[in-house]
Order: sequence, then C-alpha cells, then structure tokens
Amino acid sequence: MKRDYEARIRQLRSEMTLEEKIGQLQQCGPSLVGAFDVSFDELLNMMFDGRISQEEFNRLMGTAEQDFHEEDLRAGKIGSYNGVGDAATVNRLQKIAVEETRLGIPLLFGYDVIHGFRTVMPIPLAESCAWDPALWERTGRIAAEEATAAGVHMTFAPMVDVAKDARWGRVSEGAGEDVLLNGAYGAAKVRGFQGDDLSKANAMAACLKHFAAYGAGEAGRDYNRVDMSMQRLWEEYMPSYQACVEAGARAVMPAFNDINGVPCTVNSWLLRDVLREKWGFDGLVISDSNAIAECVSHGIAEDKKDAARQAILAGMDMDMSSNSYIECLKELVESGEVPECVLDGAVEDVLRIKFELGLFDNPYQTDEERESGAMLRGEYRAIAREAAAKSIVLLKNDNNVLPLRPDAKIGLFGTLAADGGQMTGAWAIGARPEDCVSIVDACKARGVSYRYCAGEGCENRVDEHAGRSVRTDSMVQETAEASDILVAVIGEQKEESGEAASRASITVSAEQLTLVDRLLETGKPVVVVLINGRPLAIPELAERAAAIVEAWHPGVEAGNAILDVLYGDVNPSGKLTVTFPAATGQCPMYYAHINTGRPGGKSKFTSKYLDAPVEPLYPFGYGLSYTTYVYRNGKTEKREEGIHVSVEVTNTGNRDGEEIVQCYVQDVSARRIRPVRQLKGFEKVSLKAGETREVEFTVPYAGLCYYDWDMKEIPCEGVLKVYAGGDSRAELTGEVVL
Ligand code: BGC
Repeated sequence: MKRDYEARIRQLRSEMTLEEKIGQLQQCGPSLVGAFDVSFDELLNMMFDGRISQEEFNRLMGTAEQDFHEEDLRAGKIGSYNGVGDAATVNRLQKIAVEETRLGIPLLFGYDVIHGFRTVMPIPLAESCAWDPALWERTGRIAAEEATAAGVHMTFAPMVDVAKDARWGRVSEGAGEDVLLNGAYGAAKVRGFQGDDLSKANAMAACLKHFAAYGAGEAGRDYNRVDMSMQRLWEEYMPSYQACVEAGARAVMPAFNDINGVPCTVNSWLLRDVLREKWGFDGLVISDSNAIAECVSHGIAEDKKDAARQAILAGMDMDMSSNSYIECLKELVESGEVPECVLDGAVEDVLRIKFELGLFDNPYQTDEERESGAMLRGEYRAIAREAAAKSIVLLKNDNNVLPLRPDAKIGLFGTLAADGGQMTGAWAIGARPEDCVSIVDACKARGVSYRYCAGEGCENRVDEHAGRSVRTDSMVQETAEASDILVAVIGEQKEESGEAASRASITVSAEQLTLVDRLLETGKPVVVVLINGRPLAIPELAERAAAIVEAWHPGVEAGNAILDVLYGDVNPSGKLTVTFPAATGQCPMYYAHINTGRPGGKSKFTSKYLDAPVEPLYPFGYGLSYTTYVYRNGKTEKREEGIHVSVEVTNTGNRDGEEIVQCYVQDVSARRIRPVRQLKGFEKVSLKAGETREVEFTVPYAGLCYYDWDMKEIPCEGVLKVYAGGDSRAELTGEVVL
C-alpha cells in the first residue's frame, strides 16, 4: 500500500536550513571509545600487525563504551544510525531527535539483518539451495518481526550480487551464481521484509545491495575492480537488482567496486540513468560503509570534498560512515559546486522513506516489552529448522549409507560438530552462541548412541587458540573403533566466508583431510558433513567418502536440522545454486558459460587445463535425495504467451520426496554467443513414492531477449534447445524454431 506523502515532504524540506538538510544525509554508527587514544580501527590494526597482543586488545576492549554522538544528534547533524539494534537505545536516541531537535524529524535506524536477527536462519547461499520463494519470504518476515521489535527500520539486504567465483567470500550472502535465482530470491526477501504496508510497526524497509556487479570482482578478491562488457552486465548481472526494485525495495546500496573504471558510489549512469530514469526508483540510495571517502583511494577523487561532490551529483542520497557530506557539503553548496536542488532531492528521498515507514506518526515503533516477546519464538525456531533442512544438499550417498539406522553407533569428529556458535556463519550480528544447537547438542537431545572426538589437527585455522581442542590419534582411533559409522564434520569457520574473506585456495585444510584419512583407514563408512559458506574444491572427499552432506552454515537450528536429514526424518531436497569446482584454479566456474570454438574435450588443442578437469566436481542444480526421480515425455511447444515446456517426473524410489525441477534453454545461433544453458524456470514438487506429476513451464519470449553488439535488445530467433530435468546437465527435452 503506497501513500502519497509528497506534499508533506516538500513542505518540511522547505522549512529546513542548509545544515539541517545535510544532517539528514548523515548516517553514523556508534563509535567505540575507551582507555585507548587511537580509533577503534587503528586498535584493530595494531592487534592484527602485532603492535599489541590479543590480551592487551581484549583488556582495552573491556574498557570500551559506545559513543552515540548525541551532541551532533541534538544539533540536527544526524539523520540515521547504523548498527543500533535494541529498543531501549533506539527509543532513547529517537526521543532526542523528536523532542530536542528544531524540526523533530525522526531518525532512521538501519542494520545488517542478513539471514535473521536473533533467530538466525541458514546463510543466504544455503537458503537459496531450497529453491523455495515461499520459504525465503517467510524467513524474511520472521527477520522483520524480530528486528523491528528491536527498533530496526531498514535492513541492508537482500544482497543479490550474482557470484560466479567461489573464491569471493561474499558468495555466502547471496543466492549463488544464477541471475534468475538471485532475482527470485531477492524479490521474495523484499516482500518478506517489507510486508504489505511499510508504515506498520513490524515492516522493515529493504535496502538491496550491492548495486551493481559486486560479485564480479576480478579474481574473486573482495572490493576488486569489475571490468565487463555492457552486454554481459545487462544480461547476467542487472536483472537481479531490477527484480528487487520491481518487488518494491525502498532503498538501494551502491557497491564498493567500480564498473569499467567508475566506482558505483559516484556512478551517475548507474544511480541516475538506470536506477531512477530507466527503472523509476524513487526510494533512498545509501552508500556502502565509508565508500564515499574511499573514492580517493580508488583514484577518482582528489580528496574527500571532491568525493562528496561527485557522489551527491551522481545521486547518492545518504553517506554511511564516511562523514564526507557532513564535513564538505555546506561549502560545496555555498560555492555553487553542488546546486541546492540536488541536495534537496537527496533530502526528499530521506524524508520519503521516513514517512513511508510511518516514523513521523509513530517514531517509537517498539518498546522493551515488544522486543522481549518477539525473539526466538518456538514457531520461529521451527521454521529455522525447516529452512536449514531444506537448504541441505546431499552430494554423495554411496550404497545408501544414509539415512543412518536409528540404532547405529555414531562416531562424531571435528571441532565444528560441537561448536554451536560457528553454525550461524557470516553476518549474524544479533546471534548468540548459546541459542545455537550444535550437532553434539542435537545428538544428546535425540538420545542417539554417539561418541564425540574433536579429532587430531582439526584446529580452527582462524583462531590461533583453537589448538586446545586437538586430540591425539589414539582417541580418534578409539572412537572410530567403538562406532559403526563415522561422521566427520569439517569445512569452514564462520570467519572464512563473508566480507573480506576471499580465499586463494578453496579447499578444506590439510588437518581436516588428515582427520578424514584416519577415519577412512579404519575401513568403516565415513560420512562427511560440510559446514561452510562457499563451494569447496574437495575432489579427495568426493572420491573417498561414502557420503557427503553439504549443510552450509545452517543457523541456530543447525544440529537438529542436520540430524533430521542424517536420520531420514527429512528427505534431502536441496540443490546447488553454485557450481562446485574440482580445483580452485577452475574459478570462476559456472554452468551458464559460453563455449569457445574448441570446447574442452579429449584432444590436445581444446579449452581446458593440463592439471584439472574441464568438468566441475558437482554441477549447478545438482543434489541427491533418499529417493530417485526419472524424467520422461518432455515436450516443447510454441504458444502465444511463450515457449511451453512440460515434463513428467516420477518418484521411482520408496520414499516420499520433494524434487526441484529445472528448465534451461540454449539459443544455438544468436548474433552474439549465448550461454550453453540458462535457467528459465524452476518448480519444487512433492511426490509420493511411485507418484508421477507433469510439471509445466512457460518461458516468455521477452525473457529470451539479449543484446547485440550495439547494445540493442533483440529477440531470440532460430533454433532454441530446451532442457528440463533435475540439474543443469538435464537431457534435451526438445527444440523449437523461433
Ligand atoms: C558491507 C555492507 C553492509 C555495510 C553496513 C559494509 O562493509 O559491504 O554489505 O551493509 O557494511 O554494515
């Protein structure tokens, strides 16, 4: 429901002084102050580069307090806060804004609610593997219920950066490598976060990010340059952002990276021509953290003032954390370098979202009572468990070693099996380790027969103190001997994915492989449970483990959901939304690639590596279950509304299950080379054992368009191959001639 606030916005803006206007564009976070003279960032650096010890750092942090810059707030110099997530503080600061500033304009509180607030759901990459928009929306709604109860008005989510390079740590924060899936995921999240009326107290504005193509950074290194053709940008990256704008996202965060030499932060083509003019967006544009000032490091601005000038002219409304606007805009407007009407436009965007959120009528949307009743409710936990189970992808299951027999004696190994706090993965600021169910906790609660041993050498690669949990070989041996089946829980610590967590080698550690080797030597079946935030290159495990369960970072209900799958209470149905390379050197690796004139094959002069296969380890769309499915009678037909595809899928096993049916196309002779396949539709169907269902897709003709050399959008003509099946290797269903 959209209301018209425009007259009130203009009226209020006309009453504002220059300083008050600039204040509305300032977002800051609480600063840490304590018994240290340097900034918190510098303190962190000092710890990282060894100038102070971890102990000294911890001691100093113990003296730290949060400074909310209240004097600036009273003076009308702050329009928004980032990272304040409790009702009492939000209301206290809001009261200052409403009662003690001249115009009483309420504050906007933003927060990174990426995959849940307190009830931490699986990381987005995991949840995307459920291919389930209704689930994505439901978990988004729960995040909004909790976060708004804590005073949050806007989340910096969804992230819909298509990510084709598994080295990039932020692969974990989005829906994987496919643009259609990212768009569907993002749109569902927008609906879930925002609800049907943004002015309701439990609705949270969605700030889609990172606009644009942040996932395409060179070599998978975070923040790195993005240089790509306009054709590729529009075909493979832009549609997921557009889907979120169309779903009604009220805010947009431009990305840190540049596109073809112009940082998104100061890119007026991106922020004005595309976002506002072409897509009709009239919401708030807020910079990424400190991104305006960082334009100086990029080498596109002489100084902070120049960066501020370029950013506001390009259409950046709000400055997150860099103080560029608050320090420089007054002078820029007074000198005429920035026309006041440009400033006014930005101010109106800020006021608009505040009106839409109902903050002028109801600035205190929560209180401590609502807050305490809203968190971690039983029904939220139940959905977190369901979401985590649906996110799990069964990668291998030789001889049906899974599901486990209820009476089997389980040997459980790996520090990650007992560490609930690790289960939340990246960006779970509101998470509390004590809320999380580890696999060991879940085994206890279920009363299964298990023995646990952390395992030799399976130490935490990030935390230098984790060596404490190292056990001796003999304990591994002893535990293995007393068990029927061995479960190794390995993968990544939560700090090993997410922001600033790119990896040049996406394997599991040598210590973890050694642990698995020890277990394999016993001759007993070894099940590997992977806990991780990105695809991992694990050819050794793929070859030697009896079963591999990709559980990702599953959230607060991790242990319960994993046991639900291991014991077969839930028949796994997740399918990969990212390709698993066989070797890091294959990155970037993704299913929707284009063919060279010499596609990789057996003969020498084809496109391949000498020392790695051409094929991925596990392809996009892939995932097993405890039953089997057979596809038959695929049909394709041209109809008025698009290409009609149908296929019959039969559950040929003896367990009920859910199958994710996928539809891909290939345009074989376009004017520019098209990907070998592109996902054009998906549907998850429930099938009882023995049941057959016909699944239908309509691929609209408009969805097949692409850009020619001159960037003219052109329709698909000639032969189109269609594939419908259970993963991106599905067999040919039919051809149509367009
Ligand atoms: C990240 C954003 C995040 C922001 C605010 C940045 O470092 O890139 O994704 O929303 O911080 O916390």
